[in-house]
Amino acid sequence: MKIDDFASYCKRRGIIFPSSDIYGGISGFYDYGPIGVEIKNNIKQLWWKSMVTDHDNVAGIDGSIITHPKVWDASGHVDNFVDLFVECKKCHSKIRADHLVEDVLKKPADGLSAKQLNDLIKKNGVKCQSCKSELGEVSEFNLMFRTPVGPEGDYSSFLRPETAQVIFTNFNNVLDTCRMKIPFGIAQIGKAFRNEISPRNFLFRLREFEQMEMEFFVDPEKKADCPDFELVADVEANVLTAKEQEKKHKTAIMKMGDVLKKKLIKSKWHAYWIGRRYKWFLDLGINPDKLRLREHVDTELSHYSSATWDIEYNYDFGWKELEGIADRTDFDLKQHEKHSGTKMQYFDEETQRRFVPHVAAEPSVGVDRAFLTFIADAYHEEEIKGKKRVVLKLHPKLAAYKVAVFPLVKKDGLPEKALDIYNDLRTCFTAFYDQAGSIGRRYRRMDEIGTPLCITVDYDTKDDDSVTIRDRDSLEQKRVKISELKNYIWGKICS
Ligand code: GAP
Repeated sequence: MKIDDFASYCKRRGIIFPSSDIYGGISGFYDYGPIGVEIKNNIKQLWWKSMVTDHDNVAGIDGSIITHPKVWDASGHVDNFVDLFVECKKCHSKIRADHLVEDVLKKPADGLSAKQLNDLIKKNGVKCQSCKSELGEVSEFNLMFRTPVGPEGDYSSFLRPETAQVIFTNFNNVLDTCRMKIPFGIAQIGKAFRNEISPRNFLFRLREFEQMEMEFFVDPEKKADCPDFELVADVEANVLTAKEQEKKHKTAIMKMGDVLKKKLIKSKWHAYWIGRRYKWFLDLGINPDKLRLREHVDTELSHYSSATWDIEYNYDFGWKELEGIADRTDFDLKQHEKHSGTKMQYFDEETQRRFVPHVAAEPSVGVDRAFLTFIADAYHEEEIKGKKRVVLKLHPKLAAYKVAVFPLVKKDGLPEKALDIYNDLRTCFTAFYDQAGSIGRRYRRMDEIGTPLCITVDYDTKDDDSVTIRDRDSLEQKRVKISELKNYIWGKICS
């Protein structure tokens, strides 16, 4: 399905609405509907569990969106967080220059300089895609949203363009209060804002979005000291190295253990977190053929990174970054030391050394981009006995409702019995009750929002204390005792 049709489907099903819809919408902003917000919360909770609560050495924070303006000088965002754009001389639309070159000339343009993009546009006579008129020169544009602070705009700061910096500015606070021992991580989920020149592809590129980020701090002399690596050594990934991008652009299916042995990823901790993050998407049901690991080529690397690998997904609009995992070295802590005058160091009692830790890995993913990926990957159209069925085959852990309960008919005491079961189940699971329309229509409504199990209370229920459970994906129907329902549903969610 094309991405615009997919956006309409999400609106019809109460998953995502365009923001300020009654005013015609606003580009780059979306609202989550009643179904969407449940799925989004599940994504965040599953990430938090996998990155924070499942580890003894990772702490979470929830920092402010507006910070001291000096944070963004220190981080390099004031100078470096720019995109390149061209303006149409006639209709004055502003177009991101690398996207224009990629769309029109079908060439990868990420990381090209203003001069390189200008030359390509001029040499190939690229015109405005809306009105076919001539384009101006390529210019720089800083993506941060500036905001006044105080009643008379006493000074101005920025809405944070990444959550990471609030982790760095809290490094000493977390270290002092939680007595963290290196290696350790600090994680955060929260809003980020980027004044994207051309937000597009539905939830893929937004101006307001949420990020889930973790900074994993290590001793720079012990980047190869990762006792947990065996946990990911057998994870298989489609790997596209920087070298291969210069040649035939071929991916190779490799185990993470072999990726490390061949030194395609230099540091063991970096490889470990890349493997863990790749596995997270696989474990939550993403089609392995649509996922790959791509190394950044030199020109693409952010100003703070010594090496970055992206987990990419093959969207309807091509292979694109889903998550980035960078080795940020000691860039940020050193910058904040320099700009704030505060030491940001770790004292290792064992070795009696004091040093600025390195961020061996910064797994960073957008909640909204992960959301888009999970639902686009789960969307299926099937034909069953000549009838079309739309089904969202979401992993049960992600589904908005784990179970729906229906009385077969609206009479003879069946609704009362069904409501008893529903009220009991909802103490443990998100559940939905529906008695309107035919059973077939009620099943279809639940399939379209990804409810993995539907329970029907029928005339036999009164005699045998059992119900029929229908599985969304296999369509198998089973009789299950009411007393065994909770265990049965738990089993399905955790499988
Ligand atoms: N702290 C590192 C950082 O922010 P990034 O590659 O700019 O790195 C990380 O962003 C992730 O945030 C991306 O992989 C993507 O999932 C998400 N993201 C970035 N810009 C976004 C946007 N405009 N809309 C939605 N998600 C975005």
